[in-house]
Amino acid sequence: MSTVALSLLAIAAASSGVLAQDATTSSLTPLASKHFDYTNLPYQADPDNGVRGTQQGYNRCNSTTEGPESMCQTALINHLDDFCLWAPPKPDSTIGDTEGEEVAWCTKKGYGTRLIPAGALTGVQLTKTPDYIQVVGYIDQTKINIAGDDGGGELDPHGADFRGNPLGGLVYSNAFTSNGGKNDSFQQVIEWHNFMGSNQFCFKICDPAGSNPAGFCQHIYDRIGVAYNCPTAAQNGTFEYCEGESQDPPGIYTDASGAVQTYSQPPESLGVITSLPYTPKVPASSNCVQIASAALFTDLASATASATASGSGASATGSSKATGSGASGSATRTGASAGASSTGGAASGDSNGAATIRISAAATFAGVLGAIAFLA
Ligand SMILES: *[C@@H]1O[C@H](CO)[C@@H](O)[C@H](O)[C@H]1NC(C)=O
Ligand SMILES: *[C@@H]1O[C@H](CO)[C@@H](O)[C@H](O)[C@H]1NC(C)=O
Ligand SMILES: *[C@@H]1O[C@H](CO)[C@@H](O)[C@H](O)[C@H]1NC(C)=O
Repeated sequence: MSTVALSLLAIAAASSGVLAQDATTSSLTPLASKHFDYTNLPYQADPDNGVRGTQQGYNRCNSTTEGPESMCQTALINHLDDFCLWAPPKPDSTIGDTEGEEVAWCTKKGYGTRLIPAGALTGVQLTKTPDYIQVVGYIDQTKINIAGDDGGGELDPHGADFRGNPLGGLVYSNAFTSNGGKNDSFQQVIEWHNFMGSNQFCFKICDPAGSNPAGFCQHIYDRIGVAYNCPTAAQNGTFEYCEGESQDPPGIYTDASGAVQTYSQPPESLGVITSLPYTPKVPASSNCVQIASAALFTDLASATASATASGSGASATGSSKATGSGASGSATRTGASAGASSTGGAASGDSNGAATIRISAAATFAGVLGAIAFLA
């Protein structure tokens, strides 16, 4: 069931180029080509003024900027207990309307950001593979300023004007092997994508030293959501970290005859995506270690009125994967069983009226967008 919901996520296509690229911005250095040392960040990675205006926040964040009003746009993805998500600065916003402005919401103090309110996270799985680290989970998105019914969209460092969503948003990590596993040393992540919406999220960061960072953190499949971009066995109510095999890069699949195919996401002008030619394969994970949520997010408990996140919503009904109960189980899962429940992402039902509206609005730009939509 949850995989169906996941496939609906981001059908809204929030990050595709609703704004056409113009001559004034096309000469700017793309965000993904700007590299900074974490210890020497500029005030803003994107000091320019283009069609989409200026960067809303800043990248140099510290104890002064930390708190509920922070406009910090430097995010970190480190460990199961130590990660950030992009979400709007103002309450009740949609990702589509604010994609250029999102700020970092984190689970730990010390980065100068906002903190995710205690109890908002109801299930998180962090998976480390040879090519990337991925955090997938369940969240009460209203607690991080996302409208309750928002199907959301994709944030990534590209976008039609190459300034990224959010504009100037930077991502760092201490968790890659190429970083030597040093917790006190943060390495810039060049390729990443973050899907937010439908009370779910995926934030994948690709190892700069990995085999295909741009492919695994692909940014052109913004309309087909978490299930296709981050196939996973994450469950609501479970907090765990796992090792795993790398997925097929988003959009790449093997058809019934055994041939490797590349999916082409149709332009928004053709309307809602109602069927896809494949079901994504959930890669095998192993050595999963489950942890009680109360043990994980101690900074949040102290920062917010304790909502006692009784993380034991472990009754994931309908799941074919019987996970060991208790605080620290360990399980090996195979992709076959985990992936079985996806329906191929048919976006029937209109669980998201907003998405439909946005798509039709975007369709009026169709003539301009054309190929640009693919760059989003
Ligand atoms: C903290 O960060 C803000 C925003 O970037 C900056 O204006 C301020 O100078 C910084 N403070 C210190 C002490 O570095
Ligand atoms: C880094 O921090 C994580 C917890 O956030 C911890 O599990 C890990 O052991 C630390 N690694 C090192 C090398 O200190
Ligand atoms: C996750 O579980 C919580 C607590 O049981 C529930 O309130 C929430 O609706 C679930 N989220 C999703 C996306 O299913």
